[in-house]
Amino acid sequence: MSDFRLEPDLLHEAPADPFADIIAKLANEIFNEGRLPATSVDTLPSSEQFQPPVAPPTAVAGVPSNFSRPSAPTSDAAPASSQGSNVDLSGGFPSSHNPDAPPPVHPTVVAAEPHEDSPGSGTPQGSHVPGSSDSHEFGEPTFKTWERRNPEQPHSLWETGTPDSPSENDFYFLQHVTPPSSASGVAFPRANASAPFTSFDIEGVRRDFPALHQRVNGHPLVWLDNAATTHKPQAVLDATSSFYGRDNSNIHRAAHTLAGRSTELFEAGREKVRQFLGAADKKEIVFVRGTTEGINLVAQSWGRKNVGAGDEILISNLEHHANIVPWQFLAEQTGASLRVIPMNDRGELILEELPKLLTDKTKIVSVTQVSNALGTINPVEEIIALAHARGIPVLVDGAQSTPHIPINVQAMDADFFVFSGHKVFGPTGIGALYGKSHLLEEMPPWQGGGHMIKDVTFERTVYNHAPEKFEAGTPDIAGVVGLGAAIDYMFRVGIPAIAAYEHSLLEYATPLLHGIPGLRPIGTAHHKASVLGFVIPGISNEKIAKHLDQQGIAVRGGHHCAMPALRHFGVESTVRPSLAFYNTFAEVDLLIAALHQLVRH
Ligand SMILES: Cc1ncc(COP(=O)(O)O)c(C=O)c1O
Repeated sequence: MSDFRLEPDLLHEAPADPFADIIAKLANEIFNEGRLPATSVDTLPSSEQFQPPVAPPTAVAGVPSNFSRPSAPTSDAAPASSQGSNVDLSGGFPSSHNPDAPPPVHPTVVAAEPHEDSPGSGTPQGSHVPGSSDSHEFGEPTFKTWERRNPEQPHSLWETGTPDSPSENDFYFLQHVTPPSSASGVAFPRANASAPFTSFDIEGVRRDFPALHQRVNGHPLVWLDNAATTHKPQAVLDATSSFYGRDNSNIHRAAHTLAGRSTELFEAGREKVRQFLGAADKKEIVFVRGTTEGINLVAQSWGRKNVGAGDEILISNLEHHANIVPWQFLAEQTGASLRVIPMNDRGELILEELPKLLTDKTKIVSVTQVSNALGTINPVEEIIALAHARGIPVLVDGAQSTPHIPINVQAMDADFFVFSGHKVFGPTGIGALYGKSHLLEEMPPWQGGGHMIKDVTFERTVYNHAPEKFEAGTPDIAGVVGLGAAIDYMFRVGIPAIAAYEHSLLEYATPLLHGIPGLRPIGTAHHKASVLGFVIPGISNEKIAKHLDQQGIAVRGGHHCAMPALRHFGVESTVRPSLAFYNTFAEVDLLIAALHQLVRH
């Protein structure tokens, strides 16, 4: 995935730096006490040096464009002091100035002390069900001088501007964006406005992810490498280990009890994926190793049957290599050629070009729904409608959309859709391909072996129907069980709530990041999810990533397997923090503080 490697000399490069102390204090207070200090720091830049933020992305699929964070918490669990629309942060956020306020609770405060480079042994077991009686208050750090600029108005972006009375004691880079306004039980509207509100319990969510509660290089881990892979909730670990510890058997091939159990679990996993993708029938779900294998399957099976010399395969400029190279193989094998939908300098596809690119020669369109390098959300429905108008099928790469936004392959009318389990909080080595029934039935198998057959003689083999036809050999049964548990987990949290919460994190982080002196954002599409790629000319990406790693902040530095996309911007690699629904506003603050520290030295 990345060409970034840790080198010991740089890892230990720790110049004497007043910022290091500040960040360490910040981190410790956040992680150990649940609030930010109002530390006096003479060396910090003054608020005059503050750069106005660049406009953040404005919309996210699955979340209404007029989405606004409620001005007051709606959870029943909210303390009285935090309720009401006219939110006073010193009351709304537990504050040291209010002796009656409930004690600060931060998402990262867990029963166990973080362990050095290992998951906390005291991390809670079992799965937390958001909204259940064991839900915890939504904890936010105390920022003494932050305030809602217009507390009466609901807002979709935290109001910006410097405080009315800036204090020398405050972090200038934390002052210009007002943080989220609730202290407990934040509620997010569902995509469907008529549906009930879903409470998103960030602290409860974080407790479910043991890997988040460890120290790395002496700091609490801040995992911002979610576009590469995600951590797993305890429910996924439990489901996988329970499968091996109790139900382990090969599937479909024996009459004994354990075979029955494991077959049931495996097929239940298929049904969960069907629901996750909104497919009509579970026969349309083929288990594969991940997105890469799913695309290769379609290219080699559907492609070898339907694509010939002189034909064209249409992809886009912002694809992951997994959605480029398999089509190049097919083009080489068949004499077809690749064509590419161009993008603009924000990293958005230029859809006006699409009608010209869709011709009688075009046999398939394959595009990603969300770019892993730029974060762009592509209007796949529009692309599909245009392609279908010419009778051309479309494959959608859902590797980066499935962790963040609700999916419905029927509403989207995708012909094929692929995603990876490890990016949706499930195990590695498992993923799924959705294909419309009639397409899968017409496609030849691509690998031969056990399980994909109905009958075999030395003269001929009769194949099974889809999906078994494409699942030769013993599948990753435990992987399917774990993936099913991950999907259950996402459903319990609520995918529209996940989308809304992450979007608020992205909107919060974007102007702060763009305010880092000299930082150049890479990928500034209006519709974005999760990804905050950037470069800082004069400081290598490797150095930035290592500097952050020294502070426990995991981001990816590299080409992200999307070289053509990055080269459009004249760069070979970027630094890529990427968000998931277990990240917090306080973690964004740590990232921003660490970057300010770096650019000052
Ligand atoms: C957009 C996109 N497509 C495809 C892939 C490949 O996924 P996997 O390596 O899980 O097969 C990735 C992985 O980062 C991705 O981000």
